[in-house]
Amino acid sequence: MKKALITGISGQDGSYLAEYLLDLGYEVHGIIRRSSVAENQDSRIAHLNDKIYTYYGDMLDTASLTSIMLKVQPDEIYNLAAMSHVRISFDIPSFTIQTNGLAVLNLLEVYRLFAPNAKFYQASSSEMFGNSVDDDGIQRLTTPMTPVSPYGCAKLLAFNLVRHYRHAYGLHACNGILFNHESPRRGSNFVTNKVVKAAVEIKKGLRDKLELGNLDSYRDWGHSKDYVRAMHKIINHDVADEWIVSTGETWSVRDLVEYVFSKLDMDWKDYVVQNPKFMRPEELKYLKGDSQRSRDTLGWEPEYTFHSMLDEMIENWMNKL
Ligand code: GDD
Repeated sequence: MKKALITGISGQDGSYLAEYLLDLGYEVHGIIRRSSVAENQDSRIAHLNDKIYTYYGDMLDTASLTSIMLKVQPDEIYNLAAMSHVRISFDIPSFTIQTNGLAVLNLLEVYRLFAPNAKFYQASSSEMFGNSVDDDGIQRLTTPMTPVSPYGCAKLLAFNLVRHYRHAYGLHACNGILFNHESPRRGSNFVTNKVVKAAVEIKKGLRDKLELGNLDSYRDWGHSKDYVRAMHKIINHDVADEWIVSTGETWSVRDLVEYVFSKLDMDWKDYVVQNPKFMRPEELKYLKGDSQRSRDTLGWEPEYTFHSMLDEMIENWMNKL
């Protein structure tokens, strides 16, 4: 039985990955960060409580990472822990760089010293590209990385460290550059779930408007469930490498809003207002990823479309509220 250690197991991706690995017969271990609201610590994984092993730890506490690594002795390490909100990274830039950048260095050191035979997956991000895009309107591995947020800068540091550790120490350490990915488990301050939740609340008469920031940015949105399958394929490919995971389709925030409101038989223009509070000091305007190599070499394909993913999120809030 293979052992996986997931940092960030209580997040959207961590919870889906834990389910996926359990189905494959893995023994799943995960690190949970302490929160003052106990329910927030494990709301996404409570249903797995008797199937997985969890430990309190923190990416900023190298001693905790060391003791967990020594105890678990994993075959596969998935580093999904991060301060994952790009706009908030402008408010807490130093914390973001420490957690998403420097802490990855510490985790790599713990991995190198105490579990060097394990395979390592780093959750790298399309935010690393910033506003760089090839002439054909696509981002690929060769596209320059010029991040436009503290979050993107930290992720780029971690990306380079993972590559460096692979080359310098012969470790099986890989990067998955994942474009945006959503689901009913997405935090409701990310734009997809924020829009879906508010639209359903408006439909049910629980509120009357939705405040958003920039409606003119474009994202390549996939489903988290599809993307955790890619993580597993990436870490288990014979050669550790860098991989892009994306749908190759791009939609604007305006398209997103239009679709969700029209699905609920409403005109978004009657309810959506812009609030500068949700704008970013510097915005990544456009993402569209080329994942052809991942599809051809890893045999990965997304199952959800942008619309079927949003339909699932709408249904979730319709049932919940
Ligand atoms: N969150 C949020 N809230 N975003 C808004 C809003 C709003 O009220 N209004 C407009 N947007 C726009 C943002 O400016 C951005 O252009 C787009 O919606 C998507 O924002 P998010 O859903 O917050 O995601 P993100 O693209 O910044 O970051 C996500 O994707 C990255 C991969 O590219 C996160 O999941 C990151 O962790 C991930 O690495």
